[in-house]
Amino acid sequence: MKAVVYETYGSADVLRIEEIPDPAPRKGWARVEVHATALNPKDVLVRKGKMRWLVGGERQRTPGYDIAGVLLDDADGLTAGTEVFGMIQSNHGGGCAEVVSLPFAQLGAKPNTLSMVEAASLPLAGMTALQALRDELLLQEGQTVLLNGASGGVGTLAVQICRALGGKGIAVCSSRNLSLVQELGAFETIDYTQTSPAERRNLDAVFDIFGSLPWEKARHCLVKGGRYCTAIPKPKAILRGSLRRLGLHRAALVVVKSRRSDLDVLRNLVENEQLRPIVEKVLTMEESAEGHRHIETKRARGKVVIQIKE
Ligand SMILES: NC(=O)c1ccc[n+]([C@@H]2O[C@H](COP(=O)([O-])OP(=O)(O)OC[C@H]3O[C@@H](n4cnc5c(N)ncnc54)[C@H](OP(=O)(O)O)[C@@H]3O)[C@@H](O)[C@H]2O)c1
Repeated sequence: MKAVVYETYGSADVLRIEEIPDPAPRKGWARVEVHATALNPKDVLVRKGKMRWLVGGERQRTPGYDIAGVLLDDADGLTAGTEVFGMIQSNHGGGCAEVVSLPFAQLGAKPNTLSMVEAASLPLAGMTALQALRDELLLQEGQTVLLNGASGGVGTLAVQICRALGGKGIAVCSSRNLSLVQELGAFETIDYTQTSPAERRNLDAVFDIFGSLPWEKARHCLVKGGRYCTAIPKPKAILRGSLRRLGLHRAALVVVKSRRSDLDVLRNLVENEQLRPIVEKVLTMEESAEGHRHIETKRARGKVVIQIKE
C-alpha cells in the first residue's frame, strides 16, 4: 500500500511517499481503508523528534492519528463495509496510509451527514475539546469558560461543544478569526492582538488550548474555586495535572483518550447540528509536507486534511 513515511527526524522535507506492507489482521483490531486523515500539531512534534523521549529513536514512521474510511474487518458491533472514523491512540501514528489497523475501541460509526474529509477532521481535536470541557473543567450550564486559541483545530470544536454543553464560551483569537468564532457560537470574543485575555476576571473556567495562558496567569482570571485546564504538556503542567488527580491542585492537563463512546458523542452532536467541522485545507498525500508546514505556522484555521481516496 501507499503511505507517507519518514526515517529521520527533521523538517517537513523528510516526508515522502513509499510502498509499504499492508498491516496484518490482529485480534481485537480492525483494518480500515483510509479515505482521509487529518493533521495535528502532534504530527509535527513527533516528526521533529520533539517527542523522542516518548516515542523512541529514529525508525520508519507514518504520520497521522485521525482517520475516516471504510472498515475492512468486523469490529465489535461494527461490520465490515461500515463507514467509520477514529483516532489512533498510539504515539506512532500510521493514519497517512491507504490502510491502517487500530483497536476496535478507537473506532466509531462515522456521522452520516459528513464527508470522509470532514469526519477525519473531528476525532483527536473533538475528543480533546470534549474531554477538557466535560471531564476536566466539569462545565455546567450557564458557566463562563475562556477558550484561549479558539480558531484552531481544537478551538473551533471547543467553541461549539462548550455551547452544546450549555456553557458561555469566551473565544480568544486574532482579529481575522473573530467572525468565525462568533458564527460557531462564541458568547463573547477577545482579540488577543488588542487585549490580553489574562486581564479577564470572574470566569468559572479557563481552557488554555494555545498555551499562552499558563496557570500562573490564568488563576487571577478565575472566580474562587474556578477550574483550569491546559492542553500543553509542559513539565509544570504535567506535575500540576498529576497533583490534581490526587486532589492536591486545581490545574488540570487534558491528555486526549481515544474512545468509541466519545466518538459517539461527537457523532450525535454533528447529527443534532450542534457541531460542524471547520476544514481549512484539503491536500493530497503528495502535498503532506505543505500541510505540515501550515500547521507549523500556528495559524491554522480549523483543520488541514489529507484526502487519500476520492
Ligand atoms: N494534550 C492533548 O491531549 C492535546 C490534544 C490536542 C492538541 N493538543 C495541543 O493543543 C495545541 C492546540 O492544538 P490545535 O490542534 O488547536 O492547534 P492549531 O490548530 O495549530 O492552532 C492554531 C490556532 O492557534 C491560534 N493562535 C496562535 N497564536 C495564538 C495566541 N497567541 N493566542 C491564542 N491563539 C493563538 C491561531 O489563531 P489566530 O490565527 O487567530 O492567531 C490558530 O487558529 C497544540 O499545542 C497541540 O499540540 C494537545
